[in-house]
Formats: sequence, structure tokens, C-alpha cells
Amino acid sequence: MLYEKLKAYSDSGVYPFHMPGHKRVPESGLPYDIDITEIDGFDNLHEPQGCLAQLQKDAAQLFGSRHAFALVNGSTVGILAAVRSMTKDGDRVLIARNCHTAVYHAVELCRLDADYLLPDTVNGFGISGSVSPEAVEQSLKADPEISLVVITSPTYEGVVSDINGVSAICRRYGAKLFVDEAHGAHFPFSDRFPQSAVTCGADAAVVSLHKTLPAMTQTALLLTNDDALAEGLKRQLSVFETSSPSYVLLASIDRCLEFLTHSERAFDEYVDRLTRFYQAADALQHLTVSCARLAACENVFDLDIGKLCIFCNGYMTGRELMDTLRSDYHIELEMAYGDYALAMTSVCDTDDGFERLIRALKEIDGKCNKAKPTTNIIFPSLPQKRYTIAEALCNDGKMIDIRSAEGKVSREYIRAYPPGIPIIVPGEVIDSSLLSQSEILEASGNEILTDSSSFPLISIIG
Ligand SMILES: Cc1ncc(COP(=O)(O)O)c(C=O)c1O
Repeated sequence: MLYEKLKAYSDSGVYPFHMPGHKRVPESGLPYDIDITEIDGFDNLHEPQGCLAQLQKDAAQLFGSRHAFALVNGSTVGILAAVRSMTKDGDRVLIARNCHTAVYHAVELCRLDADYLLPDTVNGFGISGSVSPEAVEQSLKADPEISLVVITSPTYEGVVSDINGVSAICRRYGAKLFVDEAHGAHFPFSDRFPQSAVTCGADAAVVSLHKTLPAMTQTALLLTNDDALAEGLKRQLSVFETSSPSYVLLASIDRCLEFLTHSERAFDEYVDRLTRFYQAADALQHLTVSCARLAACENVFDLDIGKLCIFCNGYMTGRELMDTLRSDYHIELEMAYGDYALAMTSVCDTDDGFERLIRALKEIDGKCNKAKPTTNIIFPSLPQKRYTIAEALCNDGKMIDIRSAEGKVSREYIRAYPPGIPIIVPGEVIDSSLLSQSEILEASGNEILTDSSSFPLISIIG
């Protein structure tokens, strides 16, 4: 059933402005013929000495780091292993609040005590801005015990932070820096993209090959220039990653690296396509797809031009735009959130794909008439923390309606999906701004997810 459904979708002609970055271009059936286990001559991912050691060496060279670990459980496993190997039980850590769920899970599993850094919202755009070195310094100065800083750069929307600046501050205060660069695997392959995190001084970074490069879902790399840390990462990957790594996925990493070795022209063409797209998008009267305007904002250090953030400026919600593109134009975007929808592009996109998107946007733009007030999402403030995540989860829970939960301590995560970033984490106090925020999110078509899957009922510490 699933196979037939996948084949039918693949044959339907819907254009994929979403992950994975290979855009279903490589032709193949399901690859049973190369699906093996660690038989003689095929090395062992957890103790590589042969062909897999060579693959990781090639990856390190291409990505400009001393060490690269091939991952077959996504950036998720890289995040768990990295946070584990960069901390000890109970350590104080500083986490950018817009980090992916996997970072929170790492904090939970490693029983860490997290402080959060809330990146400012980009004025007029309703997305998180960069994490500034000044903000990191302020937090590290206030709490010299913090041993690890974790930030996401680029964000889902392509906002990049000043990793050179942040890593210099971390070094000054004796903290390690781990960058979730899941959406930035393509950065090293054109100088029109921002510099990669490990080349800017991050102690370690994780990149999802599958998100923006021609590689299969779940493929990723964990990168570091630090020999001692590399030992710890290897040890923790053997804890968190499957003991039966898929050779199909490893082969996909291999093919991706092979592509990257000869990819200069392909990336030049990709950047040209993006440039032409942005030029054409300048003609839109109501919708906005402008890297230049976003990049000029005060709290945006740099931007990935490969992420097309389409702002609806109140003429519709991002969700409505995404639905219209699907139903009327057979174009599937990656996600919608509040006032914007996001098209993910990659080096595998075609001229035809970009032309279809701009034609559709122009037509939709021509039909816009009356703008409503925009539904930008703003994280009003950080909730008050009563317990660490692990402590909160050790308590018994009680289910109550969120509308009568003001002042209570949550025992579960509440997330808006997409993009899945928690708006409350276990151990935090539910306040009135959270209640209104979840209402706005639901009204703009986002799903509110909780661990117990029973929203608006949520688990509180009882
Ligand atoms: C910012 C960010 N980090 C990490 C991840 C997890 O990556 P993966 O799907 O490769 O496990 C995601 C997934 O969407 C993400 O958006």
C-alpha cells in the first residue's frame, strides 16, 4: 500500500518545493540489491577501517573539517550524540529557544539544566532573527557555569547567526559551541551561501545531507575539528545510532559526496536560478519573496538564499497560500507558519520548477485584494522555569484543560507544528501569553501538538 501510494504521488506531476533535496530526480526502484549488513569487506560504521573510513575521510575533506561522521538516523542522532559528549549530567547549558525538538530531548536525556536565549523576532516578518554574540555574552557573563551553547544556524527559514562572533565569545567564557546546521549542508559549495559553522569556529556541527543536497532521507554528517571531541562523538554515536546502519543510506551519502566533488557548475547554475527567481519576484505587488529586504533587517546577520520565504502580508495566511499552490498549481511547499509559507530549494531544482512557482505566485498575487492584519507569530517572553525538563518528567501528571491551566507547571511539551519548536517545555509555568499564542497559532492553521496528543487537555504537575 505505502509503496503504491508513494509511486502514485511520484508519478502525479506535483512539483516538490520541500525536502528531500534530491527532489526525486535520480531514477531508481527500491534498492534491495544494495541493502546488506556488515559482511566481510564492507566495514563497520561504528568502528570504520575500510570503505566507510574512506567515505568519512572524503566527507571531512569536502566539508572542511578534521572529522566527519556519516549518520543514517538524521541530524537527530548527531544532536543527541553531540550534546551527550559535550556535557556531563546536570551541566548548565544555554539553548536558543528556536532549537529543534531533538535538542530538547538531548537536554532531557542528559539531565541538563537549560537556560534559554530567545532570538528577537525580525521586525515585520514574524520569524526568529539571528542569535547575536552580544546576547550569548550576556548570558555567559550572568552564568559562568554554562558549559555548552547550542544554536540553530541556519534556521528553517534560512536565518544565519554570526558563528565567528559567537564561537569567540564561547571560547572567552570557557563554553563549547554546538551548531545545529541541519539546514546548511550546501553552504560549503558556493560562496553565495554563508560560511559553514565548523569553518567559523564551532566545536561541532551537524548537517542534514537529505534536507538540501541530493541524498536520501535520514542521511547527515556530524563534523568537528577537535580530535578529543571526535573520540567522544564516536563513543556516543555507538550509543544513540542504530547498530544496523543502512548500506542503502550510506551508499546515498557516498553518491552525494561524489556529486559534490564535481558540483561547481551545478551550484553556479542553481545560484543563477535563484537570482532570476528573486528578480522575477520583485514584480509581486502583494506577496513578498525578498532576501534583500530580510537581509537588511537589523537582527539578521546573514541569510541562506536557497530558502524561499513567501510572506503573505495579510492577504491570506501562509497555510492558505500553501493550500492554493497545492490544489490549483500542483506545487507542494515545505511548510507554512503564521503569515508565510516556505519553499525549500536545492541544487536539484529545475528551471521548469522555478518558472512554475513564479507563474503561480504572480497569478495568486494578481487576485489579492484586501489585506487583513497579519498573523505573525511572536514569542512574547520566555516562560518561567520551575524545574529542569528531567525533573518535571519525574513528577506525576494530571490532565487539565489548558484554558484553566494558568499558573500551573506543565509536565509536557506544547509545540506548534510546523515547525515543531516548543512553545512550552516540561517544568515551565503556563501563563496567559502562552494561552493567547496557542489560540493564534491554531487560528492560522497550525496544529498544536502535545506529548499526550489530547490538546486542549494537557498534563500538568499535579
Ligand atoms: C533545525 C533542525 N534541526 C534538526 C532537525 C532534525 O534533522 P533530521 O531530520 O535530519 O533528523 C531538523 C528537522 O527538520 C531541523 O529542522
